[in-house]
Amino acid sequence: MGPDAPRGSDRVSLVDRDRAVLWHPYTQMLTAPAPLPITRAEGVWLYTENGRRILDGISSWWVNIHGHSHPKLNAALAAQARELEHVIFAGCTHRPAVELAERLIEILPTGLARIFYSDNGSTAVEVALKLAVQYWRNLGQPDRRTFITLHNAYHGDTAGAMSASEDSIFTRAFSTMMFPVERVRGLEDMEKRLRDAADSVAAVLIEPMLQGAGGMIVWPAEFVAGVRRLCDQYRTLLIADEVLTGFGRTGKMFACEHAAVAPDIICLSKALTGGYLPLGVTATTSSIYEAFLSDDRTKTFFHGHSYTANPLACAIAIASLNLFRDEAVLERVARLEQHLRAGFEPLRALGDVRVIGGVAAVELASGQPGYLDQIGPRLTAAFLDRGLLLRPLGNVVYFMPPYCITESETAWALEQIASVLG
Ligand SMILES: Cc1ncc(COP(=O)(O)O)c(C=O)c1O
Repeated sequence: MGPDAPRGSDRVSLVDRDRAVLWHPYTQMLTAPAPLPITRAEGVWLYTENGRRILDGISSWWVNIHGHSHPKLNAALAAQARELEHVIFAGCTHRPAVELAERLIEILPTGLARIFYSDNGSTAVEVALKLAVQYWRNLGQPDRRTFITLHNAYHGDTAGAMSASEDSIFTRAFSTMMFPVERVRGLEDMEKRLRDAADSVAAVLIEPMLQGAGGMIVWPAEFVAGVRRLCDQYRTLLIADEVLTGFGRTGKMFACEHAAVAPDIICLSKALTGGYLPLGVTATTSSIYEAFLSDDRTKTFFHGHSYTANPLACAIAIASLNLFRDEAVLERVARLEQHLRAGFEPLRALGDVRVIGGVAAVELASGQPGYLDQIGPRLTAAFLDRGLLLRPLGNVVYFMPPYCITESETAWALEQIASVLG
């Protein structure tokens, strides 16, 4: 190509150019349908290159809460970019990192008093696992290094987070890279493992109230309270993975609030920045933090990422918290929950319906063998034909829009869901 030739020719569509050079996540590139070429987005709507308008019914992989291209978040991003875009966070600090940590500590469950930044949900979990193991090591109990997790868990795609997740087709190719964990189904099971092996458990890790990728499984608050009680009784740490549930998704700011419990470590990401930029937070109690304070350098937490505490991401996270403070966002989620309950009620005829906060799901029952394998992609295509972006998890169809969705937009989306499934 000569110097004057057009780069990325206008004549070739974005999709064709994508197909020539890109590799998408969770995508079988041989058979996947063409990706949607999105050129802009506003509120709950995504706009494609050829002028289609599609409702973002999955909050862009569960991250968006206030809507796309929010004027206040846009302004916060632009203002921060003019001031400081990024600086190394080992040996340096900056206002957005400090202010966000202060603001988070104000609203997090009681006792969480130290903020460690990373890049995304998986790294937030990875940091939590490493902190738990080294915490016990620093206290002179290096044998406490196993984790108790739940069946159907999903904690991310890095090696540690995969290990803690359910053993599934998504992780099987990497089994040689993973460490064993103890997977349990409920409190009784958990208590038995703790009783048998309390001295070897570093922490219990759960997604409080809602297991997301495992199939939108809603747990009773009593379960979360019971896990806290067992962790206290057997003196181990409780890690709450609130990467999905944090920032109002289940109707409370943090899902642990449903059970009025505080974990020892909490993992946050996704809606932390309102859906704008990747940022992870792992928050711990002071006593965990203090176990790393020592003249002995081997007790240091040797973990970090190039973009740790990125100022742009921190600034947007602060702006997102300002929206929670100024705009009664949680009340918005409560109203959304009512609409979701009413809209999903008739779907009980089709299977198990589960609603919590801004998340509604129906697990379709079907007697036909082989039917469920293909149902997800077929339904995705049918919803898309109607202008609704959903990505069923197998036979679990769920709707998780940004909280800013209006009543009429919700009604429209629920109508599309009912008519596709009906
Ligand atoms: C509960 C939970 N933890 C961790 C993760 C991983 O987050 P990320 O995709 O940002 O790595 C996810 C992602 O869906 C999640 O739902």
